[in-house]
Amino acid sequence: MEEKIIDENKQGEALVLEATNGNTRKLFIESYGCQMNFSDSEIVASILAKQGYNTTKILEEADLVLVNTCSIRDKAEQTVRKRLEKYNAVKRTNPKMKVGVLGCMAERLKSKFLEEEKIVDMVVGPDAYKDLPNLLEEVEAGRDAVNVILSKEETYGDIAPVRLGGYGVTAFVSITRGCDNMCTFCVVPFTRGRERSRDPQSILTEVNDLAEKGYMEITLLGQNVDSYLWYGGGLKKDFKNASEIQKATATNFAQLLDMVATAQPHMRIRFSTSNPQDMTEDVLHSMAKHKNICNYIHLPVQSGSTRILKEMNRQHTREEYIALINKIWEIIPDCAISQDIITGFPTETEQDHRETLSLMEYVKYDFGFMFMYSERPGTTAARKLEDDIPLDVKKRRLTEIVDLQLMHSAYRTKKFVGKTLEVLIEKESKKSDQHWSGRTQYNTVAVFPKENYKVGDLVMVKVEDCTSATLLGVAVDYAE
Ligand code: SAH
Ligand code: F3S
Repeated sequence: MEEKIIDENKQGEALVLEATNGNTRKLFIESYGCQMNFSDSEIVASILAKQGYNTTKILEEADLVLVNTCSIRDKAEQTVRKRLEKYNAVKRTNPKMKVGVLGCMAERLKSKFLEEEKIVDMVVGPDAYKDLPNLLEEVEAGRDAVNVILSKEETYGDIAPVRLGGYGVTAFVSITRGCDNMCTFCVVPFTRGRERSRDPQSILTEVNDLAEKGYMEITLLGQNVDSYLWYGGGLKKDFKNASEIQKATATNFAQLLDMVATAQPHMRIRFSTSNPQDMTEDVLHSMAKHKNICNYIHLPVQSGSTRILKEMNRQHTREEYIALINKIWEIIPDCAISQDIITGFPTETEQDHRETLSLMEYVKYDFGFMFMYSERPGTTAARKLEDDIPLDVKKRRLTEIVDLQLMHSAYRTKKFVGKTLEVLIEKESKKSDQHWSGRTQYNTVAVFPKENYKVGDLVMVKVEDCTSATLLGVAVDYAE
């Protein structure tokens, strides 16, 4: 077992994206890794639509194949390498097909990619997508093309993404790019650059446009959303040098949430990811104030041991994390909480591991994403710490963590049985064409008979039963 994820939205699975317009050239674009990659692919599709490309789900008919890549763990990179082999096989029958690599692997490997993988014609980092038209010209002229320049400003705030997923009901809206945190295990600050925030006006324009098109739910996206800060542009780290006026009129995340929730009171608002060190009480108050902000927080902890947290350069202790959890429960008593945990970080002892388990016992997370530590080249942990926990120990600890999370997920899910909860219908259930599948505000999946409801409806569902991760129920009238 390499890693296990308890959630419907599986990571590590590619999302092949498709949307149609009047264009003739065919783009096959797939995304690996985080939601930000998925959202970026929608920006790329928008840029390429202007270049005459229409997306397709059929790899064999593509003129251009783009793969948006993830570097977060070694396994994620291996998955992409395997995909490139597949493209290679297809290219034998379609020699004109061009292949571009986008995202974090492009940024990490740069032009080395062209040497290592002969199939690749183009390497484009996460801040260089606006250069795609020029890069494509190079490729069409038979030359390799590379742009991996990271930016201090680029937020793609002026691009209206082509919506490729979400069934016309849910959409991602990115609000920050990059990360300044430098967790010692993490490759993201190297592949996505320094943190910058997007103009709240452009965020609002995008949200209003989505509402007009009938979208019912948005997720505000960033590596560290609580760190959002708009003071007229520029890097987060340069805020200290901003003018007094800029400081006085700056918008933080709590204010942004308030603005978005007020502008679209009938739209559900979610956000991801929160970093414990940056989450303020004001954010919790914004959540409590607006019914349409979902009572759900993804709050990665990584480890329950203060010593390991320090080695990871997470800027909080176990006690501070617990204090934050208590604060969440005080302000939003029914708030659902999920985690990310890394097991087998260098020097992790059995005692450290038990502290992680005991922290989990305390919080009883609704669900979580749990990983074995994977050393990433160039990170501080790779440079300074030996990857010294044997694989079998990492695996055993991961199994213990995953098993405990399964119990907690079942406990949380069971607590909803007998309750009537609002569910946003997203799609047909995977298991039955007679049932809809949607999510509660707590991000729990709920399945119920279709009756006369349709995708995009907000329905009150009486929960009658559950599996470990899914609620089973029936729709009821609002009056009930
Ligand atoms: N702030 C980001 C975190 C990105 S990475 C966000 O938006 O989600 C997502 C998760 O991957 C991290 O929280 C961490 O648990 C895990 N991760 C990151 N680097 C890792 C590594 N080197 N090995 C194993 N897991 C890692
Ligand atoms: Fe990575 Fe830590 Fe930022 S996990 S994305 S460096 S908050």
